[in-house]
Amino acid sequence: EKPLYILAIESSCDDTAAAVLENAKVLSNVVAQQAIHEEYGGVVPELASRAHQQNIVPVIDVALKKANIDRSQLSAIAFTQGPGLMGSLLVGSSFAKSIALALNIPLIAVNHMQAHILAHFIDEEGFEKPTFPFLGMTISGGHTQIVKVNDYFDMEVIGETTDDAVGEAFDKSAKILGLPYPGGPLIDKYAQLGNPKAFQFTKPKVPGLNFSFSGLKTQILYFVQKKVAENPDFVKENLNDICASIQHTIINILMDKLKLAVKETGITQIAIGGGVSANSGIRNTLTEAQKKYGWTCFIPKFEYTTDNAAMIGIVGYHKYRKQLFNDASVVSKARIAL
Ligand code: KG4
Ligand code: ZN
Repeated sequence: EKPLYILAIESSCDDTAAAVLENAKVLSNVVAQQAIHEEYGGVVPELASRAHQQNIVPVIDVALKKANIDRSQLSAIAFTQGPGLMGSLLVGSSFAKSIALALNIPLIAVNHMQAHILAHFIDEEGFEKPTFPFLGMTISGGHTQIVKVNDYFDMEVIGETTDDAVGEAFDKSAKILGLPYPGGPLIDKYAQLGNPKAFQFTKPKVPGLNFSFSGLKTQILYFVQKKVAENPDFVKENLNDICASIQHTIINILMDKLKLAVKETGITQIAIGGGVSANSGIRNTLTEAQKKYGWTCFIPKFEYTTDNAAMIGIVGYHKYRKQLFNDASVVSKARIAL
């Protein structure tokens, strides 16, 4: 059987990404990060779409070169249809449509949230793939979802955030502590040196499998303000302990819901994705949960957890096999169901 070569484009938020896959194997996976947003403490949509326009041609060129694939060899173009920032999505979709038309090959629209989950099906040495059904937990700066995955394209959101995403909880807490954006990785770094039980934060009471993180942020703000009023150097003197305590609380919130999801579904395979799955505390806790609760946990290679185009490509590959193609009238969507 002739191999399929898929060029995938991801531009839903601030990273411009392109990848080339040969079937389920990644030949290249290129990301241009936009440093500009650090200055603003968050993603500025207008600047993001402008940078995508500048980045997209070189990023695709590099992805094809690294894969050692010529445009004429491509079987299909996959791109992120949504969810995401409209201006950012439009850059990727317009480009994908143009290439598909020019090369006269199929166009495949991909749901970014499905892609975070199906990233686990990329062929990668040393990484096992989950079997259906399994639970997917996507935790990033934009999303917090628990998904029951019955098949490649049969997924059901069984829990999600009602306000902030878990990555926002990390980033906003970090901001309160005076740390630069994005603060999630820094909280992780300092937390490794601190006592997770030094300070107590209460977990929100949210029914069922849904999450809420905005209350935690407010709680941390009031806590820090009160302590700083007593001692202006409080944050500096206790940074490791504060970070460890915040991270501990966030992990407990995630684990409570995961345990409930396992109980309700009877499924014990857990596959995580999204930028926050890089967190060392979450990784350790899930590794322990395998022994403690008998779960099987899947944590993908780091470059496939944060926003990337390889995950768009693997969805493209599986959609191609089912001949799930789109015509050029397909529209980008800021919000889109699984
Ligand atoms: O998936 P991602 O790159 O972009 C989207 O939001 O879609 O995720 C970025 C988020 C940010 O909120 C960042 O602070 C968080 O992932 N993050 C972490 C860690 N690494 C990245 N949060 C906690 N611990 C980390 N090690
Ligand atoms: Zn994402």
